[in-house]
Amino acid sequence: MPQLVGKEVGPIGFGLMGLTWRPTPPTQEQAFEAMRAAIKHGYADKVVISIKGGANPKTHQTDASPENTRRSLNDSIAQLKGRKMIDLFEFGRRDPNVPLDTTFGLIDREYVQTGKIGGISLSEVRAETIHEAVKHTKVLAVEVELSLFSTDVLENGVATACAKALSRRPGMPAIIPIPGATTVDRMEENSKLIDITDAEMEQIDAILSKFQPAGERYPPIIPTDT
Ligand SMILES: NC(=O)c1ccc[n+]([C@@H]2O[C@H](COP(=O)([O-])OP(=O)(O)OC[C@H]3O[C@@H](n4cnc5c(N)ncnc54)[C@H](OP(=O)(O)O)[C@@H]3O)[C@@H](O)[C@H]2O)c1
Repeated sequence: MPQLVGKEVGPIGFGLMGLTWRPTPPTQEQAFEAMRAAIKHGYADKVVISIKGGANPKTHQTDASPENTRRSLNDSIAQLKGRKMIDLFEFGRRDPNVPLDTTFGLIDREYVQTGKIGGISLSEVRAETIHEAVKHTKVLAVEVELSLFSTDVLENGVATACAKALSRRPGMPAIIPIPGATTVDRMEENSKLIDITDAEMEQIDAILSKFQPAGERYPPIIPTDT
């Protein structure tokens, strides 16, 4: 079983973005039903919460200034009303205007060492950022896109950097998929572990080699590989 923040977690996580971050999100009742089912179906014995933050609410840009870092963390912690600790906090994107040691130093001193959050992770970063970040803080996880339509991280050094910088070993890092879904049925389908035979893998590779996804991963306005 993989570990996060020193806790054993299930092999498949649950991405919660679709429960709020879309023009017409599901009702709270439906969202809670899906989350309860995720816990019941053994996503993890105990829930490990990883959240992204760091956007400036006025500019909607990533803002790693000390004041916005504190605001983002304090707002996120306040949302949970003391019922649960945030296990992992990450900036949704790297802010190119603020040195990593400024941001991580603050989070480490004021939030990790004081027990307000469990630790620091990274999101949508390039390999160089991972190598640089581990010099300044203990990076517990890296959240990036890896899907049938986007295998970039296997080829652009990000997966290799995760294995080397986080686990200190070569090869593939431990990967925990976090499929998102808004209904119990889909959540249950996504929580099943299956074995794929070599023949099936070949079939998937053959389909993908002929499949051209339309568009890029994000519209140009959204920063990627930060
Ligand atoms: N770090 C980052 O920058 C970043 C960026 C994007 C996403 N993420 C994380 O990654 C997670 C996953 O991202 P995502 O884009 O895949 O999430 P998503 O927005 O939840 O998209 C998943 C889509 O697949 C559908 N789906 C789910 N299970 C299905 C099934 N069994 N059969 C058919 N369709 C199914 C969902 O439908 P319904 O929603 O209608 O069920 C939804 O439309 C997010 O929740 C978020 O936590 C991180």
